[in-house]
Order: sequence, then structure tokens, then C-alpha cells
Amino acid sequence: MKTISFASLKGGVGKSTSSISAAKIFSQEGKTLLIDIDPRTATTSHVFDDIEKITGRTIHQAMKSEISISECVFPANKNLYFIPSEMELKLIEVELAAHPNKSLILFELLQEVEDDFDFCIIDAPNDLGILSNNAVIASDLIVFPTQAEKWSARAISMTLAGFEPCRKVGRYTGKQFEARILVTDFEENRDIQAVMLNAIKEEFQGMVCDTVIHHSIDVTRTYAQTGEFLPKGSRPEREYRAFVSEIRGIL
Ligand SMILES: Nc1ncnc2c1ncn2[C@@H]1O[C@H](COP(=O)(O)OP(=O)(O)OP(=O)(O)O)[C@@H](O)[C@H]1O
Ligand SMILES: [Mg+2]
Repeated sequence: MKTISFASLKGGVGKSTSSISAAKIFSQEGKTLLIDIDPRTATTSHVFDDIEKITGRTIHQAMKSEISISECVFPANKNLYFIPSEMELKLIEVELAAHPNKSLILFELLQEVEDDFDFCIIDAPNDLGILSNNAVIASDLIVFPTQAEKWSARAISMTLAGFEPCRKVGRYTGKQFEARILVTDFEENRDIQAVMLNAIKEEFQGMVCDTVIHHSIDVTRTYAQTGEFLPKGSRPEREYRAFVSEIRGIL
């Protein structure tokens, strides 16, 4: 199983949109597990409208060892499976404060389903806390979505520096994550964005994906489950497909 996290310190850069889109495309290639590890539950609320269905069966309970990881896996679409989050996941920082290996919990949980899936996609929260560290340590690849604007680019530098200590754990996990930057929500008719795109490529040489995801009204927040997300043949669908084939080459 290859694991990819979408992460960034900055909010609203396209982590959830890219996670859902990539998961949908990966699921056309192989059995895919999408995990929402963000307590703000954006991705979960797009997959489930019925919160009752997932109560007590989220990544939160699995991380606290109250249930097994398999017990919180829900079928979402053909070949696409989903582990939901809940708002209470935010409490994990205090609940696991005394846990000796608190950043390795997700890695260890995923070992249990390693043979059940081809791909695992993790939607991380916008912080450098326990949850993001768990996502990064469990991953083969971290993708940092960013808009082509100054503050988002600055957030990438901070995020990269913030996750660097996670590499030390590679000695234990045997994983050394690759990192890539995905420019999203790009508006080609805004000159400043073209300037920033070049600046990002210059600053993060070799890390920026060739594929750019353009701003599009087709990126609507409908349910991944219904298949309405990412309409077939739309520009974002074509671009996310190109992005997935690009990262397939480095997995
Ligand atoms: N290519 C795009 N075109 C148009 N709108 C987009 C595009 N990508 C993302 N958006 C919109 O931008 C907003 C933020 O995207 P998203 O929720 O994916 O970001 P995020 O990084 O997960 O945010 P958060 O930090 O809140 O979790 C959403 O309303 C989404 O629909
Ligand atoms: Mg999000």
C-alpha cells in the first residue's frame, strides 16, 4: 500500500479538495482508502450526511485503541473506502499527551490494513501537531497544495521545516517520505499568480508538480460517495488525473 498525505500549515489551500479528487482517481486504478484526520471534518461531511452512522467508528476511536482500524472503514464508492473523522478528534492532543509513541499510532494502525488496499490518501489538518505528524510519518509521499500567492508559499517553507524532524522516525518505520508541491486554484488571467508560480518553482526546485490545478467552478463540494465530485471530462478532473499519473511515477 502506498500512502500519500495532503498537508499544509495554511488553511483553505485545497488539501481536502485534492485528497478527495486524488482518492477518486486512485480508486479507478486500485483499492483506495481515504482517511480524514482533520477534526474540522470537511471531507467526512462530504462523504456522509448522516453523522449517526459514524458515531463511535472514526479514526479518533481507532487512534485511542478503542476499536480496530478495520471497524472504522466504510465503503464510499466503487473501490473507494473511507475512514471518517469527528470534531472530538481535536482532543487527541491531550488524550495522548503521555503516550510514548504518539506520532507512530497511525503508521502502526495502517500496518494492519497494508495488504487490504493499494493506495491510502490522508487529508491532514492545517497544523504541525500530533495528527499531522502521524499522517506524515505514515506516508510515502507528502503533497503540499498551495495557491500561487505569497503567504501560501511562505507556509510551504514553514511546513517543510516543521515536518523535517519526522524524518528521524524513518529509521523505525523504514519509510522516507518524498515531498511535492501542488499549485491549486490557479487563475491564469491574474498576472500576479503567474509571477508567484514562477517564484515557487524557483524557490522549491525539483519539488513542484508540473501539473497545475486551475480555478474552476467544477470543483464543487458534493459527495465523493455519489460520484458527482469531479465531473468526468471537466478541467479539474483532467488536471487531477494528470497530477495522479505524475505522482504515480515517484511512488
Ligand atoms: N481548483 C479550485 N477551483 C475553485 N475552487 C477551489 C479549487 N480548489 C479548492 N477550491 C475551493 O477552495 C476552498 C478551500 O479548499 P479546501 O477545503 O480543499 O482546502 P483545505 O486546505 O482543505 O482547507 P482547510 O484548511 O479548511 O481544511 C473550498 O471552498 C474549495 O471548494
Ligand atoms: Mg480541509
